[in-house]
Amino acid sequence: MPAVTTIAEPAAASAAAGRTLAVEVSSLVKRYGVVEAVKGVSFDVGRGEIFALLGPNGAGKSTTIKMLCTLALPTDGTARVGGFDVRRQPKAVRRRIGLVFQEQTLDDQLTAEENLRFHAVLYRVPRHEVDARIDRVLRLVALEGRRKDLVSTFSGGMARRLEIARGMLHTPTVLFLDEPTVGLDPQTRALMWDDVKRLREEEGVTILLTTHYMDEAEYADRIAIIDHGQIVALDSPDALKRKVGQDTVELTTADNALAASRLAAAGSRCQEGGEAVVVFTTDGESQVARLIEIAGVPVSNVHVHRPTLDDVFLHFTGRQIREDQGERVPSMAVRARAGRH
Ligand SMILES: Nc1ncnc2c1ncn2[C@@H]1O[C@H](COP(=O)(O)OP(=O)(O)OP(=O)(O)O)[C@@H](O)[C@H]1O
Ligand SMILES: [Mg+2]
Repeated sequence: MPAVTTIAEPAAASAAAGRTLAVEVSSLVKRYGVVEAVKGVSFDVGRGEIFALLGPNGAGKSTTIKMLCTLALPTDGTARVGGFDVRRQPKAVRRRIGLVFQEQTLDDQLTAEENLRFHAVLYRVPRHEVDARIDRVLRLVALEGRRKDLVSTFSGGMARRLEIARGMLHTPTVLFLDEPTVGLDPQTRALMWDDVKRLREEEGVTILLTTHYMDEAEYADRIAIIDHGQIVALDSPDALKRKVGQDTVELTTADNALAASRLAAAGSRCQEGGEAVVVFTTDGESQVARLIEIAGVPVSNVHVHRPTLDDVFLHFTGRQIREDQGERVPSMAVRARAGRH
């Protein structure tokens, strides 16, 4: 990304600072020739929110992020980041954002600290603040002990966390993370999520990230499911699950037929199937004790199933998201200084 320069900010900027929205996207479109990568998406992200774009390969996640980061020009529609228009005020937008690309963009022949210092110059972090800021961001991602080590000696997860630290160096108000955990083992992914939450808590930063991992989208405050360039659902993880269907409570009892008839008589929707009675209900966990009492027979096993995000994706797209899709390593590195096209 080009170095940021100070520009005169319009009066609207001070008004924008008091607003609660960090990102405002309206009918955003991106066409590459005949390919319509993003087909008119609209969403808002509140300040301090962790917002996930969830979708399979080619859904348009990176293209959306690139438009918000001023690295790709929208074909149509509008987007504001930190109150500034990505098309008309790109420099003001760039000064307020941190970006971690899907592809790694560290110089692995430099140490962690050297990478950060280089970035501090590019982003014009005031010289007297640089040391304190480097200390802080390395601590935020638990890499203080590795600051003098070459990045070539880092594991994939450590390099990723250093990129996140670098994205935070100039104290952005919005941090964009494109597939921050792709290709990492589950333990490292969990550590990365600890980092993300810590950044939000300690720096108050708004985080917009992309992922195709169903399980980790659950950590976000809200999720937009994007498929073929369109948002097909947008809500909190819990609300999305509620839209998909009810919980099921499976009771294995001494007399399933009797239990089922009593539950049905009490107004529960249930099925007696095989070894158990299955009751369809909202908020299954809190209903368990009541259902057992109504069944009135000894219960040997209880299992509560809530719809998962996999169910949510299937519900809204008609397809299953394949877990292995994200392991693909992109072959073409898009460098940080890529032009807008
Ligand atoms: N520079 C480009 N030129 C032409 N087509 C492009 C370009 N960038 C993206 N596309 C196309 O736009 C669509 C969306 O791509 P995008 O990279 O945004 O998807 P994504 O959701 O980030 O996928 P992934 O999970 O693989 O990263 C794809 O069909 C892709 O081939
Ligand atoms: Mg992508």
